[in-house]
Amino acid sequence: MTGSSPVSSSDTISQLLESFREEAARGVASRSEFEALKGRYLGREKGLVPALFTRMRELPPEDRAGYGARANAAKSEVEEGIARLGQALAREEAEGRERAAAVDVTLPGRRTRAGSLHPVTLVRRRIEEIFLRMGYSIADGPEIENDFHNFESLNFPPEHPARDAQDTLFLHRSAESPLLLRTHTSPVQIREMRKRGAPLKIIAPGRVYRNESVDATHQPVFHQVEALVVDRGISMADLKGTVETFFEALFGTGTKVRIIPTFFPFVEPGADVHVTCIFCKGAGCRTCKGSGWMEMAGAGEVHPAVLRACGIDPEEWSGFAFGLGLDRVAMMLYEFPDLRLLFDGDERFLSQFASLS
Ligand code: FA5
Repeated sequence: MTGSSPVSSSDTISQLLESFREEAARGVASRSEFEALKGRYLGREKGLVPALFTRMRELPPEDRAGYGARANAAKSEVEEGIARLGQALAREEAEGRERAAAVDVTLPGRRTRAGSLHPVTLVRRRIEEIFLRMGYSIADGPEIENDFHNFESLNFPPEHPARDAQDTLFLHRSAESPLLLRTHTSPVQIREMRKRGAPLKIIAPGRVYRNESVDATHQPVFHQVEALVVDRGISMADLKGTVETFFEALFGTGTKVRIIPTFFPFVEPGADVHVTCIFCKGAGCRTCKGSGWMEMAGAGEVHPAVLRACGIDPEEWSGFAFGLGLDRVAMMLYEFPDLRLLFDGDERFLSQFASLS
């Protein structure tokens, strides 16, 4: 070392202070910068401040007291400066943590997309409203049924071909009492008549299941609305008047209805209710299979054997019933050509019903 004179030693102290002040004034941007600065000046092994004291031993004894005092003063200044920088850094770090945790209320909100009701739900509600206005009440029944309610009490004899015609999905086929997915909503007629007796005026909307092959108008899972009226003197004329009033309320005035005789074991006489196809207005198209009509419901006068099975005297009471295909009503009402659209879950189709929800 060349300058071991008092002058050069004091120069070392002032140089150290000068560079420290400069660095302290600049401040530190991070904890690692702070630790580096602290180590450079105060580090026990290689720190600049401890080095000042090592050097003291090289000085002539008469200079040591003055140098020592100035070195101590420099040490205090550096220590205080470092402490201040440490405090400032800790404050900034705390503020940073607060900023990170805070909610920025000025950010624009995230928009949640509102869902919409499924067309089947929309139709069910419309149908329910019409029947409620006509004085009906709404009944409900289980989708898992037994043979008694789905077939036997509805006058299907054990080996009756109609049981096969409905392509039943069986869950559990014990000889005693097989469990099945109901093939129609007619079992709710039985449950209500047995529970409440006559007179009765109900509708029962719900899901039904059949082992069907799928096409534009047939689904294996679909929806029906059952209607049942039991009272004194009910006839086919009441049935006809009711379906006409109902379909006009649903599809608008001028809607034509035709009633075609058919067979269901639980009604006598039985009928299919057809409504003019809205796609071709009766001219014939793919959806109505060229007939100009859409089959919308099965109907008829309640069979005396069914009334009897429910403890209702057919000499005193009579009734009519019909079972309406809800999905086909949706198809007509919202003018889409294929029932599969209802079950595909395609948002491009379903979102079109948002304004009706
Ligand atoms: C019945 O299910 C009888 N229970 C209806 C009934 C009730 C008759 C009361 C007499 C008295 P049908 O199988 O025809 O009948 O079905 C009734 C309606 O459900 C049909 O007119 C049709 O609109 C609808 N439907 C039938 N099968 C399907 C299917 N696979 N997909 C969609 N809709 C269907």
